[in-house]
Amino acid sequence: MSEDSSFKEIKIKKPKTFFEITKPVNSKIIEGDCFTVMDEMIKNETKFDLIFADPPYFLSNGGITCHSGKMVKVDKGDWDASQGPQLNHEFNTEWLKRCKELLADHGTLWVSGTMHVIYSIGFAMQQLDMKILNNVTWQKPNPPPHLAGRYFTHSTETLLWARKSEKSKHKFNYQLMKEINGGKQMKDVWTFTSPKKSEKTEGKHPTQKPLTVLERIILSSTDEGDTILDPFLGSGTTNVAAILKGRHSVGIEQEKEYCALAKKRISLAQSEVIKGIQQPLFN
Ligand SMILES: C[S@@+](CC[C@H](N)C(=O)[O-])C[C@H]1O[C@@H](n2cnc3c(N)ncnc32)[C@H](O)[C@@H]1O
Repeated sequence: MSEDSSFKEIKIKKPKTFFEITKPVNSKIIEGDCFTVMDEMIKNETKFDLIFADPPYFLSNGGITCHSGKMVKVDKGDWDASQGPQLNHEFNTEWLKRCKELLADHGTLWVSGTMHVIYSIGFAMQQLDMKILNNVTWQKPNPPPHLAGRYFTHSTETLLWARKSEKSKHKFNYQLMKEINGGKQMKDVWTFTSPKKSEKTEGKHPTQKPLTVLERIILSSTDEGDTILDPFLGSGTTNVAAILKGRHSVGIEQEKEYCALAKKRISLAQSEVIKGIQQPLFN
């Protein structure tokens, strides 16, 4: 214990493989703190073709929002509490530094976030000499209403897409994106609804991303057989989308409860792909 009682001792548990499959592709959940796990991966010179990160948004600080028509407190968990702008930025810089190290030379990093976190992420990327390639706006056609009526209704999230450095050459499946977009260049505003009910049959996570967003990210910047890392796996959306698209994946999540949820979703995706019954995601 630290002599200074203002510091709380945090016990970091040793990371462990929570779950792993090898068919139809490799998909692994590591239960643990992503800083510890990424340090170990760096030591082993592991590289990834793509990293998707959906970090804490630092917005669980007593506000209110609307959920299923009811007023609820914004409290997604301790992991989402703000430490103040300076410490939040240090946190972001530290995990981003590790992501940069883990990217293959052609690899890219996608980070999703709201205004609470995205400016710090963008600034840290610049401080780390990464090159920001796009600022994609994910527009939600069905956002929850703004209860107090004092601001515009929040209906977007930002996806920052970056490569390792100014000089590195990144992968972009331009033609495929154009095809998906009816023969026209894909723009940087994507309209997708929040996750469908069918994506929540295995349990709930407060910030689950829709499979459609992850599928587009994966198709745009990886090829079949590539390997993807998600350091903040949550309910496992990245690994599920990776399985559906024939990519390998590793996800890190510190909460056992969410590892268990991710495991269920991954197992379901695995059996659907093996049976060949996965529904198309883009409708
Ligand atoms: C915004 S959520 C990710 C949601 C995910 N994209 C999904 O679709 O379900 C962030 C997740 O990161 C986890 N987390 C926060 N800090 C972490 C850390 N240091 N190491 C590993 N996981 C962490 C939280 O428990 C939470 O589940």
